[in-house]
Amino acid sequence: HNLQHFEEVTSTQEVVHQLAKQGKPHGTVVIADKQVQGKGRMSRNWDSPKGKGIWMSILLRPELLPYQAPQLTLLAATVLAEVIAEQSSILPQIKWPNDLLVNHKKVSGILTEMQAEQDQIQYVVLGIGINVNQTESDIPEELQHKASSLQIESQQQWSIQGTIQRILQQFERTYDQFMTNGFKDVKLKWEQFGYRIGEEVTISTMKKSWQARLVGIEPDGALLARDEKGKEEKLYSAEIHWG
Ligand code: BTN
Repeated sequence: HNLQHFEEVTSTQEVVHQLAKQGKPHGTVVIADKQVQGKGRMSRNWDSPKGKGIWMSILLRPELLPYQAPQLTLLAATVLAEVIAEQSSILPQIKWPNDLLVNHKKVSGILTEMQAEQDQIQYVVLGIGINVNQTESDIPEELQHKASSLQIESQQQWSIQGTIQRILQQFERTYDQFMTNGFKDVKLKWEQFGYRIGEEVTISTMKKSWQARLVGIEPDGALLARDEKGKEEKLYSAEIHWG
């Protein structure tokens, strides 16, 4: 592996973007003990305290079309769910597209950033953040109802290094399978871990908000939802709420 470890960075995403521009190869991985400007989706911050979690980004140079890039996010989410499930008795669930929940609380997020030109992917930076060994007092009070860590939910200590190794191993295997066999296996895995699949939820996009039942993942990675009248819609970006 081409693996680089730092004690502290702004964001492992930033570091990998730089390495990509220097021409570093597919499979380059950057891991940090701490990020001072960890980035979440939709310009949110990602709290990345020292030694408490997995903060890592992977450089990918996939031979895919830009519209397929979201499939990589779903693939990564299934890998994380599998690794967590095999190392503990907790059942992780994936909230579309890529939040990992345990007992309805978020323990992990994935940020996929793509550089594309003329309908070709130049590279993808796949960022993985996992809250591993935070205790309850490490989680800001205003987030405690919706955020947690593997340690809190499993009541066990996790090895950060061991977990990273397992994730990279499993990621490589799954990625190779995906490149040879396509998205089908990932889709099935994703649906096994999928959160609220088959249930009624509220969906909001930029344009509207409506009630629908989540049906599953489409062959291209879109989320399929069916409203009360049976009308189906493929979603590429939306927020899902319930309850
Ligand atoms: C989200 O759920 O909003 C995505 C969170 C992604 C966080 C990871 S931590 C490693 C990588 N570096 C970052 O700055 N962000 C991602």
